[in-house]
Amino acid sequence: MNKLCIEGNKNLYGSVVISGSKNAALPILFMTILTEEKIKISNVPNLTDINIALRLLVYLGAKIAYKKILSIDTSRINVFSTPYDLIKKIRASIWILAPLLARFGKAQIFLPGGCKIGSRPIDLHLNGLIKLGATINLKNDCINAFVKGRLKGKYILMEKISVGATITIMSAATLAQGLTIIDNAACEPEIIDIAKFLNTLGANIIGAGTHKIFITGVLKLNGGNHKVIPDRIETGTFLVAAAISKGYITCHKTEPKHLKNVLSKLGKTGAKIKTGKDWIKLDMRGKRPKSLNISTSPYPGFPTDMQAQFTLLNIISKGMSTITETIFENRFLYTSELIHMGAKIKIQNSNTIVCHGVPTLSSANVSCSDLRAAATLVLAGCISIGVTIVNQADHLIRGYDSFPNKLNKLGANIKII
Ligand code: UD1
Repeated sequence: MNKLCIEGNKNLYGSVVISGSKNAALPILFMTILTEEKIKISNVPNLTDINIALRLLVYLGAKIAYKKILSIDTSRINVFSTPYDLIKKIRASIWILAPLLARFGKAQIFLPGGCKIGSRPIDLHLNGLIKLGATINLKNDCINAFVKGRLKGKYILMEKISVGATITIMSAATLAQGLTIIDNAACEPEIIDIAKFLNTLGANIIGAGTHKIFITGVLKLNGGNHKVIPDRIETGTFLVAAAISKGYITCHKTEPKHLKNVLSKLGKTGAKIKTGKDWIKLDMRGKRPKSLNISTSPYPGFPTDMQAQFTLLNIISKGMSTITETIFENRFLYTSELIHMGAKIKIQNSNTIVCHGVPTLSSANVSCSDLRAAATLVLAGCISIGVTIVNQADHLIRGYDSFPNKLNKLGANIKII
């Protein structure tokens, strides 16, 4: 899916079923390394990032079968290093390090890749593992980690809230000796899901979802089954699709509680929102949205992964607004593409942009810089006047399960070239 051709000027309406969360499923796949017993995981989204994660597990020696539910058997893992070409493709590959180290006492991985949205250091991951007793050498882009015996539980105060580093330390601590406390931990729903998965296997984790997580190490983990939570960012993206197209979309099989902040912002645009146990309905028929000021922050704040989609919302809304990105330093690359489509955006400083709403966008030939930018440009194509070509659209399939198909069922006209 390198290029998409999108006929614009559409109102999007109907129902969409939300897939499992990418950012919960990816670490959970790597957490299966922590046990030698069999694991079954359901609601895993069909994405290239997931595919790469599975290929990495197979490379290490895991056996994988898929029939609606993913069965993973890591009992025969006998390789403790990973190939450069696979690991460089996804940011999530950093989460191989801690499980290999905790179960086998050794791991060798290259520095991870992923979306180019900032420098994305991994110092907090590595410092956390060092505090738990690991020896880590970093040479030529390659991390060599080992520990004699078991890791040792410790109090770890995170200098900065990091989703990735919280997951690394939490997974390492499950098999460590004694108690680990992660202070200033990230509290995203994905962290709660990962803790729930690990506890199902016999881990002892309390406090996930708060800023203090207590992990009492156990000697070994068992097998078990787990269903991945719905993708809150995919849900938010479809709700924005309804809001920008004067449409009406119901997202099914989702979790409204995970989107409180996003729903409160969408409500302020003038959209009518209704929620049920596992669905959210957004209705913007006959209205032009009102613009909003947004500033990203760690959960429960406004998610950085929804920043680009809300910029699109603001540029076609009534009024002037600002968007401030506080998590990643390079997450406005897509704005130049929106400007090609007629958006009025000014960079105020390195982390704030100002949007002046225009009534319509016009089609253009645009390129995607990262995953969320790709979704945003596709949605912009759906509402602009004319035919938009979206290049480098393969970013999309890294994080959105069947995005063009789902949008086409809602009334879009997207062709994969
Ligand atoms: C994860 C998500 C990503 C989401 C982000 C924030 C996955 C695969 N990715 O990314 O979609 O946008 O959370 O919700 O789940 N930092 C450091 N040192 C570190 C680690 C992070 O300084 O060792 C900094 C980062 O540069 C960033 C901030 O901490 O400024 C937050 O990063 P983090 O929460 O770790 O994001 P990721 O885990 O990379």
